[in-house]
Amino acid sequence: MGAPVLRPVGVYGRSGIHDPALRRGYEACRRVARTTGEIEYAVSLLLPPPLRTATWALYGALGTVDGLADTADTADTADTERAGRLEAWISAFDADLRDGRSADPVRQALIHTMLTWNLPPGFMHTLFEQLRQDVHGRRFATWQEWRRYSSLVNTPFVLRTGSLLLRVAGLSAEPEAIAAGVPDAAVQWQTAVDAVYLTDALVDLSDDLARGHVPLPQEALDEAGVRRADLLARRSTPAFEELVRRLADRARGWLDRTPVPSVLHPAVGVALGAYTDLYRLRLEAVADAPAALLRRRPDLPRSARLRVLLPARARAALAWGLFPFPVRPCPPPTPADAPEGRAGEVRRLAAERRAIAPPAPHPSGARPPQLPAEAKPRHVAIVMDGNGRWATARGLPRTDGHRAGAEALIDVVHGALEIGLRYLTVYAFSTENWKRPADELHALMYEIPSLLRRITDDAEPLDVRVRWAGLRSRLPADVIETLAEAERTSRDRSALTLTLCVNYGGRAEITAAAARLAQEAAAGRIDPGSVSEHAFARYLHVPELPDVDLLLRTGGDQRTSNFLPWQSTYAELLFLDTPWPEVDRRDLWNALEQYARRTRRYGSVPRVPAQLLRDG
Ligand code: IPE
Ligand code: IPE
Ligand code: MG
Repeated sequence: MGAPVLRPVGVYGRSGIHDPALRRGYEACRRVARTTGEIEYAVSLLLPPPLRTATWALYGALGTVDGLADTADTADTADTERAGRLEAWISAFDADLRDGRSADPVRQALIHTMLTWNLPPGFMHTLFEQLRQDVHGRRFATWQEWRRYSSLVNTPFVLRTGSLLLRVAGLSAEPEAIAAGVPDAAVQWQTAVDAVYLTDALVDLSDDLARGHVPLPQEALDEAGVRRADLLARRSTPAFEELVRRLADRARGWLDRTPVPSVLHPAVGVALGAYTDLYRLRLEAVADAPAALLRRRPDLPRSARLRVLLPARARAALAWGLFPFPVRPCPPPTPADAPEGRAGEVRRLAAERRAIAPPAPHPSGARPPQLPAEAKPRHVAIVMDGNGRWATARGLPRTDGHRAGAEALIDVVHGALEIGLRYLTVYAFSTENWKRPADELHALMYEIPSLLRRITDDAEPLDVRVRWAGLRSRLPADVIETLAEAERTSRDRSALTLTLCVNYGGRAEITAAAARLAQEAAAGRIDPGSVSEHAFARYLHVPELPDVDLLLRTGGDQRTSNFLPWQSTYAELLFLDTPWPEVDRRDLWNALEQYARRTRRYGSVPRVPAQLLRDG
């Protein structure tokens, strides 16, 4: 394509993308978008930097995943391999998206864009579904089938991309809301998407045929008297040429009905206009040489392309100059901010120079089970319940139960270090526990500092980083001070992050986060429409806490009692009858073994690549 309006470095700076690794990811996407989405790339250059980079990430990732699913091999085994590569990419994407970051440059850029603009993951999944179907080729009997497929798998992706453009006009980002608010808009957009889909089916015909797939409805072939076998053998016939010309006409008719909403920013209107004009050019190239489609993709003639793009660039630049891009998106933390990023590495090196005590073995000599790394949870959260009942059953005061409970926690922390757990979060005192009698509150407030001293011991601390999640209000000053001090002194330690939930309530945590976000929005520092889940999580008590993988409750009750509702939405739950004071590290290990046998699906269904399309 012609020279970009801005050089890439300036583009990233003006998009707020400063991290070099992230820039490399966006660059990788830009290159893929340029080669695989010629028209989309050309139009992206008409957009202001933040939207331009977002478009590159979306189309670059699309092109990358498409490339995995696509090779020129027709053998069935190759299909299975392609399906396997695709599944591996998708599950890595899902896992990375849950973390909010990726080590893969393309996925990192895609995830950054999705989180910055609060794009829900669902629309990417409809796209993945389309690619899955493409691996084995999709056969459409009728136009009706073809259109239904397009509306299910193409439209969500296109509308999501389009909704980014609507934000420039200060509109809500929900494409569905816009479709519902403007009569007939949904139908009109669907028609526009169908036009693009049909055009691309013609343009990509030779690639599809090379893989043994005919992307057009059988009904269309039958009506035109075109035989499938002729197509697959790349034999052009007058009937085929006539069919191509008619389909190009049909797509052009659909394009002519593309709505350009009057609410758009004028520059976005220019970009949309250029997009449909370039598609019209593409259709002209198709209709000019139908027989050639059987051999190769038609090129967009350079001079015609520039006739569309040069004036569009001038008009878009003028419009952006008159009405600057107003949106302040809400980017997620960059990988460098993350605890396991570069800062974490520096801390680890510093920690190695200190005398850190190894975990003490269990008195029984028990050793942790060997679990494959991928079967181990990263984050275990425990509701340590049953102290009071344990003590009462022994004729002891409840406060003795809390002392015994602290011993149990110390042993579990050693066991967590032994098995290599990264995050352990424990519920020590809830916002509801203030209802308890004064002597019990006193005992609990005494146990917390003494427990902390044993973990962060000056002489021989464990390699445990302590975090505190909870509210300050009502807590005694010395408890607040010990918690804050433990956080400070242990910040160089890295093997295990132990988060103590003290004066913690899940709803209180979420409400406090919402209040801070509302303040930021009211002050105009963030755009409410781009608050993603990850951006929201930055306002939680311990923002870097990953999702809980395993939530364990001891003491026989099966409820979560306001514990980590945000972080535990997809946690595996495990309830033990054992009261907390009787628990030791072996119960933790046992729980980890049970966890390792579970299958986590996150709303999806297990995919067996080879069967992918034969059944569906
Ligand atoms: C959990 O044990 C510890 C805290 C809530 C602080 P409990 O004190 O709730 O014990 P039970 O449930 O009454 O046996
Ligand atoms: C949850 O236990 C809180 C802690 C373990 C700190 P509770 O004993 O307070 O929970 P409920 O009252 O049985 O739900
Ligand atoms: Mg209890």
